[in-house]
Amino acid sequence: MAITTCIFDAYGTLFDVAAAARIAASEPGREAFAEKWPQIAADWRAKQLQYTWLRAVSDTHCDFWKVTQDGLDYALEAAGLQDLVLRERLLALYWELSAYPEVPKMLAALKAAGMKTGILSNGSPRMLSGAVESAGIGDMLDAVLSVEKLGVFKPHPSIYRLVDGHFAVRPKQVLFVSSNGWDAAYGAHHGFHTVWVNRAGEPMDRLPTSPQHIMRDLTDIPQLAARL
Ligand code: LAC
Repeated sequence: MAITTCIFDAYGTLFDVAAAARIAASEPGREAFAEKWPQIAADWRAKQLQYTWLRAVSDTHCDFWKVTQDGLDYALEAAGLQDLVLRERLLALYWELSAYPEVPKMLAALKAAGMKTGILSNGSPRMLSGAVESAGIGDMLDAVLSVEKLGVFKPHPSIYRLVDGHFAVRPKQVLFVSSNGWDAAYGAHHGFHTVWVNRAGEPMDRLPTSPQHIMRDLTDIPQLAARL
C-alpha cells in the first residue's frame, strides 16, 4: 500500500530544540551560561521528556508548556544558575525555534509529489502554531495535530491513532518521522512506516518495536516516501 501521508514529530525533528540555548549563549553578558549551555540544553530536554512520561503514567496531565518550564527550571538549578532574566529569554526563544535547514525544501518536495503532510506533537496548539509560523512552513502542512486533544502524552497509543482518524488513512499509508527513537519505535508499533532521524548517532532504544529506517537528516524523506 503506497504512502499517501507524511507525518512529522515537531521538537527535535522539524524544529531545532537546542537553538534556544545556543542563541541565548551567544548573547552579550551571558558568559556563565555560555560555559555550560550544552549540558543545560541536554538536561532541559531530558527532564521535559521524563516529565511527559511521568505525567502520562501517573494520570497527572498538564500541557507541554508546563513540562517545558519545569524541565528548564530543573536544568538551571542543576547548573547552579538562578537567573530569572535568562529563564524568560530561553522560554521566549522556545516559541520561535528555527526549523532545520533542509525542512522547507523537503516539505515542498512532498507537497509537489501530492503527499499529505502534518505534525503530530506533544506541543500545545499555541506552542506549535508559534513554531510553525516562525519557521514559515505553515502553507506546506495540511494539519498540526496536538496531543492536547486527548490530554495524554506520547507514546500513548491513542496519540498515533489521531493521524488515522484525521487523514482517514490506514497506518500502512503513513510515513512517520521522528528524531526521538522511542517515538519512532511506538509509531512503528502502531503500524506506521517509520524513520528515526538520528542526527547525533545515538544507539537504538531497546523497545518492543524498532523503526524501519534510520537517516541522519530529513533530506531523503521525499525519495523514501515515493518508493515505499
Ligand atoms: C514532540 C516531542 C516528543 O514534538 O518532540 O512531540
